[in-house]
Amino acid sequence: MKRYHLTTFGCQMNEHDSERMKGMLESLGYAEVPTREDADLILFNTCSIRERADNRLLGHLGEAKRLKAESPQRVVGVGGCWSQSMKERVFEQFPFVDVAFGPGQIPKLAEFLTSDSLTAQGYFEFESFPGHLPMKRAREFQAWLQVSVGCNSVCSYCIVPSTRGREVSRHPAELIAEVERLAAEGVREVTLLGQNVNSYGRDLPRGAKATFAELLARVDAVEGIERVRYTSPHPKDMREDVVRAHVELPSLCEHIHLPLQSGSSRVLKAMKRTYDRERYLDRVAMIREHVPDCALSTDIIVGFPGETEAEFSETLEVAEQVRYDSAFTFVFSPRRGTAAADYGDQLPHTIKRERMERLLEVVQRRAHERAQRFVGRTMEVLVEGPSRTDESRLRGRTRHNKAVNFDGSAAAGELVKVQVAAATSQSLTGAEARLASVA
Ligand code: SAH
Ligand code: SF4
Ligand code: F3S
Repeated sequence: MKRYHLTTFGCQMNEHDSERMKGMLESLGYAEVPTREDADLILFNTCSIRERADNRLLGHLGEAKRLKAESPQRVVGVGGCWSQSMKERVFEQFPFVDVAFGPGQIPKLAEFLTSDSLTAQGYFEFESFPGHLPMKRAREFQAWLQVSVGCNSVCSYCIVPSTRGREVSRHPAELIAEVERLAAEGVREVTLLGQNVNSYGRDLPRGAKATFAELLARVDAVEGIERVRYTSPHPKDMREDVVRAHVELPSLCEHIHLPLQSGSSRVLKAMKRTYDRERYLDRVAMIREHVPDCALSTDIIVGFPGETEAEFSETLEVAEQVRYDSAFTFVFSPRRGTAAADYGDQLPHTIKRERMERLLEVVQRRAHERAQRFVGRTMEVLVEGPSRTDESRLRGRTRHNKAVNFDGSAAAGELVKVQVAAATSQSLTGAEARLASVA
């Protein structure tokens, strides 16, 4: 039996693509092994979103190069966004790589592995969905559902449109059939994935058209699916029907990830985000009006080219005002082939770092304050397994997407009630309600 080792970098899209790659490999008779040394096939599913992602990968590739030199019959494969963005150069710069493929060519890996000549081959068209491939999920009760691939936005900092191509939506009937299959396998929580989920369906042919809100309603209706999440919506396309769905659909969780990027309308324009500060804050107000307790999270970039101190202060103001439950904060990183990489007014690293620290202070303080509203409440938690810090306790997530460490005896995949005793910006602690009432 052949053995493979796969390392995944990047976002949920890549995690999901890796599940498909694993499913496909196992259907070809490969078995997963925990170390690269033991593998006949060494695979990487790569990311290129920031420079740091590239640098991390290079270290890992170094090890693959050494292992390949030790036993040349090993096969080294590199898939994903970095691979796509390096397509002209990958074999030249990394001659030990046998097969390279972009996110739109995952099924081609099977073709390569089953072909007679395993010489360097690259597959980079945007043509195929891995949707029909089997998948090997990390947890049997949670699943990703890829509703679309690609992105039609042109955010000036972002490499994704060039690595994942134009937006293509999957047919709603195909998606619902997939959710029904997942539910039959015991999945209780699905997370719908797309670069801009709100524009889902616009490219579908007449007769098969569905809006994102309609898709959510159809997923909600599938028997056995208790929690539905999605990521990411784009503020420019966030409409009231989707916000109302959070009230109307019992399974749709009280959490929305609404990427801000910057609080300055001037910077947002230079980023080509196509909304301004007011419009963003209007969306937040609409969400809070319909779903007052909704958790809000976001992505923010600091140190975009030309960002002035006053413009950065506007980002701090918005973070103070919105009071996010959590935020992913990034230092601007110039990416090959993007417009912002060529902007003349790049900021020095010291300024970017200093702004990042000031932003983190606001984000963490606000998240900590926000989390206190959960203390004393009894909340529904989907159990994920033992706590990472203390094996004797359990870990799970609330519908608001807060991690909870708690005392209890439930099994992974169960939905339980947890009485929350304390909260930090990152997580909650408590005890399973039936235990709490005994104590
Ligand atoms: N499609 C998703 C985001 C995908 S990338 C969306 O639009 O919401 C995830 C996050 O990485 C982005 O929201 C952005 O905050 C960050 N990011 C993307 N390119 C970046 C760059 N060049 N430098 C720093 N952060 C970046
Ligand atoms: Fe990148 Fe913008 Fe598309 Fe998100 S919406 S993937 S940030 S181009
Ligand atoms: Fe995701 Fe990284 Fe590609 S964030 S879409 S894997 S560049």
